[in-house]
Amino acid sequence: MFEIRPAQVSDLKRLHEIEVECFGAEGVTPQQLNWILEKQGENPVIFISVATDPEKSDQVKDLLGFICWKSQTIENGQHFEILDLGVSKLYRREGVAQELIMYLLARAKAEKFLGIVVYLSEGNPPARALYEKLGFQTQRVMKAYYQDGTNALLMVLATSA
Ligand SMILES: CC(C)(COP(=O)(O)OP(=O)(O)OC[C@H]1O[C@@H](n2cnc3c(N)ncnc32)[C@H](O)[C@@H]1OP(=O)(O)O)[C@@H](O)C(=O)NCCC(=O)NCCS
Repeated sequence: MFEIRPAQVSDLKRLHEIEVECFGAEGVTPQQLNWILEKQGENPVIFISVATDPEKSDQVKDLLGFICWKSQTIENGQHFEILDLGVSKLYRREGVAQELIMYLLARAKAEKFLGIVVYLSEGNPPARALYEKLGFQTQRVMKAYYQDGTNALLMVLATSA
């Protein structure tokens, strides 16, 4: 249904639009996004993948959402850590985020990683529902992790699950 491909520098404007839609002024800046796009695969290894709709003509304009992640050693095992995930408001509840996470899970399995982790605000029920639907389990609650006092959940999905 959707196509998933590595993000390119030419996606920067649309990526940042989606970031602002999702996180407002607290989101990642264009400069930070540009740095990640230019350094993808280098050290530190951070990647961004984007979901597009192949049935639409303008691939950049029709970028639906993205996932940003890096490799991380957690409790003696290699994991992918989701750093950022966002879907344009126009395309929510169509399975885009689910597809992006399933793509990352397939990569984690292929690279024999132990799983995927994400630190998530307890004040984000839609994202929590998404991760729980896909089988992520809360491994730890970090009290007052964010500046406003909100807790963070460390959620984990094992590749063997
Ligand atoms: C959270 C977010 C990424 C979900 O993207 P999405 O593409 O709309 O999610 P999907 O369509 O793949 O949803 C898959 C499942 O997640 C759950 N879900 C997603 N959005 C939900 C919502 N608003 N309320 C309740 N459950 C939700 C549902 O179980 C859904 O399955 P269903 O539609 O069959 O019921 C999107 O709302 C977003 O970009 N939010 C702002 C940024 C953010 O919070 N990112 C996550 C931080 S790591």
